[in-house]
Amino acid sequence: MMENREKAILVGVQIKGSRDEEFDYSMEELGELAAACDVEVVGMVTQKLDRINGSHYIGKGKIEEVNTLKEMMEADTVIFDDELSPSQIRNLEVDLDCKVIDRTILILDIFARRAKTKEAQLQVEIAKMQYMLPRLVGLRASLGRQGGGGAGLSNKGTGETKLELDRRKIEEKIVVLGRELASIVGQREVQRRQRKKNEIPVVSLVGYTNAGKSTIMNAMLQVHNQSEEKQVFEKDMLFATLETSIRSIQQSDQKSFLLTDTVGFVKKLPHHLVKAFRSTLEEAAEADLLIHVVDFSNPNHQQLIDTTNETLKSIGIEDIPTIIAYNKADLADVPFPSIEGEAVYLSAKQKVGIKELTELIRKKIFKDYVQCKLLIPFDQGQIISYFNNYAHVLQTEYEENGTILQVECKKSDFEKYREYVLN
Ligand code: GTP
Repeated sequence: MMENREKAILVGVQIKGSRDEEFDYSMEELGELAAACDVEVVGMVTQKLDRINGSHYIGKGKIEEVNTLKEMMEADTVIFDDELSPSQIRNLEVDLDCKVIDRTILILDIFARRAKTKEAQLQVEIAKMQYMLPRLVGLRASLGRQGGGGAGLSNKGTGETKLELDRRKIEEKIVVLGRELASIVGQREVQRRQRKKNEIPVVSLVGYTNAGKSTIMNAMLQVHNQSEEKQVFEKDMLFATLETSIRSIQQSDQKSFLLTDTVGFVKKLPHHLVKAFRSTLEEAAEADLLIHVVDFSNPNHQQLIDTTNETLKSIGIEDIPTIIAYNKADLADVPFPSIEGEAVYLSAKQKVGIKELTELIRKKIFKDYVQCKLLIPFDQGQIISYFNNYAHVLQTEYEENGTILQVECKKSDFEKYREYVLN
């Protein structure tokens, strides 16, 4: 099985003055991205530079080094840690005489493999075409497309015409798919508005890829809904989740809420991908509360928190109340389960700390609840059903003037039905 896997050399440039740990982590993550694409990493070449080489990304001498290592390890691909420009790809393919890909393409490939919903598939498709458009000449086998290569000098003219045609076709396709996507997003918008009307609070799981968002979602469902079905796909692979999943977390006192899972973040997420996945993240943008899931066992977790926060900020998700779920506490040296201010230490895999997480969530989203006693006249039956649906009814008594309800309800409901409140 292993023999068929593509073999690759990783290449990274550390800009002088940047932190070693950050660079090392970026290279490590590039390796994980490659693994998620079924590519075997057989070597690595790094270089410290003042700035990226405009024509070849790395210096001339380094290209020789990459070539030697590539031959020695019998690699068929070279993967660069940053997005390469169209001309860099072209030049490198000539000098290295093999497939040249970059971080962006790896991420696009992973997204394409994982996309399950129509919406996610369209988003990936559009992002892929936007990436391809300026690179039509150079791309060899990347993105499963045969391009460049054979266009010799003699047929340069026809090559260019074909290129123009290809370009136009792609541009047209982007428009068509964009329309289709807009209509799907529109439908979701309607559903979301519906949800708003029902006033069910929405809690959104966000965080770095592989932090354990899907595992938390599943553990919440198991603990609260006692259901094995509808579990979100969870796997030890980057980007197991590509489309937003949404589930209702049942609570016995009517303080139920909706929990949504979102796509995981990565370092250097290509900007057109951030844009493409914005609509997936819109679920988070409209949430009442964010749970920032962190792999606490990762020594770099502070850096990952920063990356996630930066990405959220860059797409305009700010000012939403947030709690931190320090997950994988079982692999770290920290007592758990425990709540510390706005954070909870837990192990979603062991389902330890899920109750504490729920407690913290409920404290944050149902904070404006009040307890009161109401006298509802018999001809106002609809108010009683409203409270039964949207409040926690602690006691019901029947008197000659109507029904006495003792409830814990939203402050806004308390205000709305003030005339029935008994003091
Ligand atoms: P993406 O979909 O890539 O964004 O990942 P995710 O954040 O949804 O992560 P997921 O839930 O798929 O978990 C990633 C891996 O971590 C899986 O192998 C889980 O079994 C593992 N994992 C999750 N929670 C824990 C935990 O509390 N402890 C340990 N030891 N492993 C965990």
